[in-house]
Amino acid sequence: MNDFSGRTAVITGGGTGMGRALAVALVKESCHVAICDVSEDAMAETQALCQAISDVRVTTHLCDVSSEEDINRFQQEVEAAHGDVIHLLFNNAGIGGGGGFVAGDRGEWEKTFAVCWYGVYYGCRAFLPMLIKSDSGHIVNTSSVNGFWASLGPNVPHTAYAAAKFAVKGFSEALITDLRLNAPHINVSVVMPGHIGTSIAINSGKILGHTAPLEMSEAEVRDVRERLMSQPGPMTELLMNLSDDQLREFMHNRGIEFRDNAPTTADQAVDIILSGVKNNQWRILVGDDAERLDARVRANPFDVYDLDFTALTTISAS
Ligand SMILES: NC(=O)c1ccc[n+]([C@@H]2O[C@H](COP(=O)([O-])OP(=O)(O)OC[C@H]3O[C@@H](n4cnc5c(N)ncnc54)[C@H](O)[C@@H]3O)[C@@H](O)[C@H]2O)c1
Repeated sequence: MNDFSGRTAVITGGGTGMGRALAVALVKESCHVAICDVSEDAMAETQALCQAISDVRVTTHLCDVSSEEDINRFQQEVEAAHGDVIHLLFNNAGIGGGGGFVAGDRGEWEKTFAVCWYGVYYGCRAFLPMLIKSDSGHIVNTSSVNGFWASLGPNVPHTAYAAAKFAVKGFSEALITDLRLNAPHINVSVVMPGHIGTSIAINSGKILGHTAPLEMSEAEVRDVRERLMSQPGPMTELLMNLSDDQLREFMHNRGIEFRDNAPTTADQAVDIILSGVKNNQWRILVGDDAERLDARVRANPFDVYDLDFTALTTISAS
């Protein structure tokens, strides 16, 4: 599909980041858009940005993609507002977190896994019949570099997100054959971004119910210190010597720096994603860091979890 004009796209997680940038870019190409998110305010901003560009149909739908009931309701709302055919499905919503399997919080683990994996799975289940009714359709599932390399470096457990993103990648790759056999007019791509400048670090904490860093109580600061102590790294000693307020400030700035100091912006990421869709690329790496990591992992398949490999690989992506 190399012309999005007059088509209809569904985007999960369209409130901020790459989901918002996708909505804006598609609307610029005269594509109708239905977005869902857990944040009504963020969706209203996306909708206003889109409506300032074009008068194509842009609808917003409150929906937690980790709930099949919510996604099914979202699908019914889309059908009521846009008709029973869609052409593009971007399963984009995701959160970081839930890292520790051995010693971490089970609730956070399962929430992260559910948003990042079940969100994609339920999205495909709910919207596939509407895609099948189109003359040509495309599913775009967002994984991550953590869908081919399950690490954020040697000192950080990262099991929930990586497990979900590997699942998204495996599912999408297996869908290629399934669709070719059973719905050959539908294509699928798996998107694997490196570090993209979005608010994911800030949003994920909120969605997982964490107190905003600057508002953390003494007990919460103590918990953060304990967590940092259990993951010793080059910064540990420095962090341990910070006062409570300095530690709050440090945690606050981490999310902002993730957003503002990335090698690739959300708009640049979306250019890469949409040109991958137009070229029917099943595998879309996003950013030079993702390309480099992919090459390193392929060149060193047995070394990728050795301490010196992980220590040398600075991926700040969630
Ligand atoms: N930013 C990066 O560096 C990076 C790297 C690799 C992969 N990714 C993936 O890209 C995708 C988009 O992330 P982003 O960086 O734009 O982050 P973001 O936080 O800016 O956007 C994600 C959006 O999804 C929404 N969301 C979260 N949980 C949801 C739920 N349960 N139901 C519905 N909406 C929900 C959030 O409210 C937010 O609007 C995610 O799947 C993420 O895992 C991001």
